[in-house]
Amino acid sequence: MDFFCRLINREYPLERDYIPDDLIPCDFPFAAAEHAEKRLLRSTAAQAAKALIEYGKSFGCSLYGISGYRSYARQQEIYEKRLAQAGPLHTARYIARPGESEHQSGLALDLSCPAVSLELEESFAETGEGRWLAAYAPMFGFILRYPRGKEKITGYAWEPWHIRYVGKSLALYLALTGMTLEEYHRI
Ligand code: DAL
Ligand code: ZN
Repeated sequence: MDFFCRLINREYPLERDYIPDDLIPCDFPFAAAEHAEKRLLRSTAAQAAKALIEYGKSFGCSLYGISGYRSYARQQEIYEKRLAQAGPLHTARYIARPGESEHQSGLALDLSCPAVSLELEESFAETGEGRWLAAYAPMFGFILRYPRGKEKITGYAWEPWHIRYVGKSLALYLALTGMTLEEYHRI
């Protein structure tokens, strides 16, 4: 199976030492320092995200990258910090343990917009950008990976800001059927 279609979750983690070999910096608006690790994505995903965001501009959408690739070590830092700040229940709903995050694959990207001060919060879904993203992301090969109403299946809270590159045909198939990546892999 094509790596782009791969299921990455608690049950199917990535190797601790997995680092994609084709990471490139994203060439679109990004709320991070120029050489920040989180600006990176695998090249196919970076190019697709650029095309997506540029197409969005023609609809008046101002989308910004917030977090792309995260190493195993970086995910561990994020996980431990959130655990200390917000406790185990919140952390289990929102933050993957190291090895279990799609961000380590270089295929996941968190997006936001100025209307919600570039925050990653549910109200992003009600902005023009959030609505546009939900409708158009699949045309560029991305799925909204953690949809509302599928929390028990994905194992995570609704995250309208997190998109995952799976390639165009699978993204369109999942969007049209309403299936999550877990449901697709279960069949
Ligand atoms: N927020 C998602 C689940 C992650 O930490 O990868
Ligand atoms: Zn994310």
